[in-house]
Amino acid sequence: MKAQDFLTVRDLSQEEILETFDIALDMKADRMKYADALKGQALALIFEKPSLRTRTSFDIGIQQLGGYSLYLSPNEISLGKRESVHDVAKNLERMVQGIMIRTFAHQIVIDMAKHASIPIINGLTDYTHPCQAMADFLTIKEHKGDLKGLKLCYVGDGNNVAHSLMFAGARLGVDVTVACPKGYEPNLVAWRHATEDAKVTGATIEVVHDPAEGVKNADAVYTDVWASMGQEAEAAERRRIFMPFQVNEDLMAKAKADALFMHCLPAHRGDEVTDGVIDAKNSVVFDEAENRLHAQKAVMYQLMKK
Ligand code: CP
Ligand code: NVA
Repeated sequence: MKAQDFLTVRDLSQEEILETFDIALDMKADRMKYADALKGQALALIFEKPSLRTRTSFDIGIQQLGGYSLYLSPNEISLGKRESVHDVAKNLERMVQGIMIRTFAHQIVIDMAKHASIPIINGLTDYTHPCQAMADFLTIKEHKGDLKGLKLCYVGDGNNVAHSLMFAGARLGVDVTVACPKGYEPNLVAWRHATEDAKVTGATIEVVHDPAEGVKNADAVYTDVWASMGQEAEAAERRRIFMPFQVNEDLMAKAKADALFMHCLPAHRGDEVTDGVIDAKNSVVFDEAENRLHAQKAVMYQLMKK
């Protein structure tokens, strides 16, 4: 892998993503084969927001590769407040071999990568959630086989998860349609980047405001919470605005008959998705969660192996 850090899916070429998927599937098939792959290496986990999946999968993942993890909670470091990002990077690089960060501003992971001589992995910023997209497309590949030419419709807020899906779809030749309320479109820069990358693979990146139009012919329908971490104060207003974008049985019926239902989780059942959809047999949400482990182990292996 050419990149030293994993800050967005755009850091990887199509070949590198597919190679990472192959390694992830090999790890999934035979965990013990990689038991010493990162022997003795330590990964710091910096969390400025809560987590179930990201924390568990990185913590267990590095240990399954023979390494150690160190969890640093939101109260511990206060990135940029108690100490500058530069100084945190310069301290940690003396003691650990890699850093995973979940934070607010994307600039923080960019600055950390600039100052640290060790790999930085983005475990979610307000802008992107690249590890999630890796797990998601690995999941689609497992269920659908060849990715090229498939269509994914993301229904909801044009947020960090939407951006990562757009970047990954563009790289992998998967059409991505974002169906969102007016005013909640993906970030313009993210949209430009994805559109540019999509030219190479022939994928289309589209934004629509009608969920029924968006899910037409979709092989996968994806949604996420309407108010992301940090947007709690807007939750009630967003609930009202996003209700017509709920992924329910009626909306799923408008996608392909064998369309997968996907969600990064945590889900707010009854809001962005109904129980009937998330518990249906074509829902792959827990496969996505499991694949966080395998995909991230492959990413760590690619970045940290000597
Ligand atoms: N999907 C995801 O990142 O979950 P957590 O917020 O629980 O880590
Ligand atoms: N968009 C959500 C994703 C959570 C995994 C958030 O940022 O809170």
